[in-house]
Amino acid sequence: MSLNEIEDTLFAYNQQHLIQYWKELTEEDQLSLITQLKNINFNNVSNLFQKAQTYIQEGIQKLDDHMKPVPRNKFEAELKLDTKVLEEYFLLGLKEISKGHVGVILLAGGQGSRLGVTYPKGMFPLELPSGKTLFQIQAERIRRIQKLAEERTGKYGKICWFIMTSEENHEPTENYFNKHGYFGLNKEDVILFRQGLLPCFTFDGKIILEDKNRIALAPDGNGGIYKALQKNHIVEHMKKRNIKYVHVHSVDNILVKVADPSFIGYCVKKGADCGAKVIPKENPHDALGVVCEVNGKFQVVEYSEITDKTANLRNEEGELVFSAGSICNHFFTSDFLEKASTVYEKELKPHVAKKKIPYIDESGNRIQPKTPNGVKIEKFIFDVFEYSQNFVTWEVPRNAEFSPLKNCESVHKDCPSTCKRDLLLLHKSYIQKAGGIVKCEELEISPLLSYAGENLESKVKGKVFDKCTVILSDEEVVVNGFKALPL
Ligand code: UD1
Repeated sequence: MSLNEIEDTLFAYNQQHLIQYWKELTEEDQLSLITQLKNINFNNVSNLFQKAQTYIQEGIQKLDDHMKPVPRNKFEAELKLDTKVLEEYFLLGLKEISKGHVGVILLAGGQGSRLGVTYPKGMFPLELPSGKTLFQIQAERIRRIQKLAEERTGKYGKICWFIMTSEENHEPTENYFNKHGYFGLNKEDVILFRQGLLPCFTFDGKIILEDKNRIALAPDGNGGIYKALQKNHIVEHMKKRNIKYVHVHSVDNILVKVADPSFIGYCVKKGADCGAKVIPKENPHDALGVVCEVNGKFQVVEYSEITDKTANLRNEEGELVFSAGSICNHFFTSDFLEKASTVYEKELKPHVAKKKIPYIDESGNRIQPKTPNGVKIEKFIFDVFEYSQNFVTWEVPRNAEFSPLKNCESVHKDCPSTCKRDLLLLHKSYIQKAGGIVKCEELEISPLLSYAGENLESKVKGKVFDKCTVILSDEEVVVNGFKALPL
């Protein structure tokens, strides 16, 4: 595409300002700008902005009058289930894993701005006794659950791990996995793919020029997954590998049960095409989206989208009516993902966030605004729930399954030290349950030894732990030679 053609397009969409500094640019910078412009589908982004405009002008619509809690037949709470039923789900999930029917998608394209890091969140040094990061913990949970599935079913099946990155963090993520030998997984079973970018807009629809040769771009939200699946032929790949069920989760939850057999087994047993794992909200102001029905369709309503009155509603037992807190942990069939990435994706509504976006002013000066001057547009992963034919919800306890790394330490909540604390507390409880005596603060279990508290007795029963220890699998003692003390 030549400059002339680009000029015509820019004119047609009223975005001519994007080349206003063209003559001042070096050849290299001109090439860079033209490449960025070519990558923008002006028709699509202009439609998206039109759709987003209602939200920009009117703010977020409150949905209170249309909300209903998840009906009982679409909801089960792990803690309230009969152990036999739970075991049935667990075994069913393991069987699907051993048949190679299960894939995992890790959502790792976020910018980590609240945490304040510029590198991928999965690499954040959590200061665990083992030195492990979120990426390593998740990789090792996959290895352990594959092994457990083999032990319980007699058949070994691989879980294929798909990792969604962004343009910005793709390379560092790939380098990190390469450097660490994919944490013992086969490289061909770990597939990294990039999500897309969207331009940032001023409130009146002008794309923002961040520098004379650079357009302000941001990842298109975790709902960008559907477009990215299609663009990167991921569903086709899943079908070739006979992957039928997909567990999708955020990168930031240190307690995440990757490819959780109980959740998968429950969804498969119920014939669901779509499912959400939730935790009970602790209080009305718990900052979690709520899974509920809106006008008869399943949806996640973000906590900012309901009024205090609705958030505070309680039933006769005194429980919150809207308590199904979404933890960005979902189940999909690959058939559903196929439709989501080809059909539903186009219908997904844009969500807008008003932000302070650096820009070049009329005189060519770079300005760092002090108040919001524009919007980032994102799609949300759960907005496809409304297309589900059979949606289910699985409630799990927070202390065993959710502790996210969202903020920097000074916030004192959902930050590095709370992640570490919650993981070590959970591990302490596993060790005590298996008959170990814990007399120290820092006791960690390798995910390669135990996925969720199983397989510990021979290593811990009757033993006293009085100094910082990492309880390793036999394999690790031989292979990795960790600093931590093997038993
Ligand atoms: C998310 C959920 C919210 C839930 C909360 C629990 C969404 C839209 N919101 O909110 O309902 O209560 O988690 O912790 O899912 N990501 C990308 N690409 C992007 C943006 C995000 O891959 O462009 C990934 C992040 O890396 C992260 C996950 O999506 O793994 C969640 O994103 P985040 O921005 O942390 O969502 P929250 O606002 O915390």
